[in-house]
Amino acid sequence: PNPLVIAPSILSANFARLGEEVAAVAEAGADWIHLDVMDGHFVPNVTFGPPVVKALRPATAKFFDCHLMIEPCDPYLEAFAAAGCDMLTVHAEATRHLDRSLQAIRGLGKQAGVALNPGTPETAVEYVLDRVDMVLVMTVNPGFGGQAFIPATLAKLRRLRALIGDRPIRIEVDGGIAPDTAKAVREAGADTFVAGSAVFKGGAPAYAGNIRALREAA
Ligand code: DX5
Ligand code: ZN
Repeated sequence: PNPLVIAPSILSANFARLGEEVAAVAEAGADWIHLDVMDGHFVPNVTFGPPVVKALRPATAKFFDCHLMIEPCDPYLEAFAAAGCDMLTVHAEATRHLDRSLQAIRGLGKQAGVALNPGTPETAVEYVLDRVDMVLVMTVNPGFGGQAFIPATLAKLRRLRALIGDRPIRIEVDGGIAPDTAKAVREAGADTFVAGSAVFKGGAPAYAGNIRALREAA
């Protein structure tokens, strides 16, 4: 299996001090930084866009894992790439031409990811697997941090793992990932963990311990 990657979601950070939060969580042992972009249209919440990603870029050299919960997504890919994202993940449900969106991301020289809402089957990615570096299985309905993990996603993870076979594609889980759910998702095939509330709870002094607890539980 791929080595475990921990990607704290800054959605649960203090937005008044985002740059310091990114630096602190990087220092505390995060592998990647997960950036949740929401448009108030594809999901019922609004966060930030390319200017904020750009402003955060100097805070760390860590990999910027950008989760685009926006519809349409194609008109914004170039701006997010230019802002400093390393991976751009689009939702299968938010683009009418998934294959085209993924080609556009790779054409910008970035890694390409595709995200699936809890109600979307793993077969939605079956014919684009050669164009993706990662599949993101949402383990809650996207829009908010701090929601409860949806257990039915475990069967999807197992099926997706089988569908991917030996292709070099990561499987990321996002939503309700904490020490109590880490082992089950790891066993089901996930190798990349997004965690918001489980990492940022307790403030900066707690981040290193929170990240370690996730690794140990997996
Ligand atoms: C939800 C976001 C997640 C969110 C996860 O739409 O995609 O990244 O921040 O938060 P937790 O880990 O608190 O469930
Ligand atoms: Zn996310």
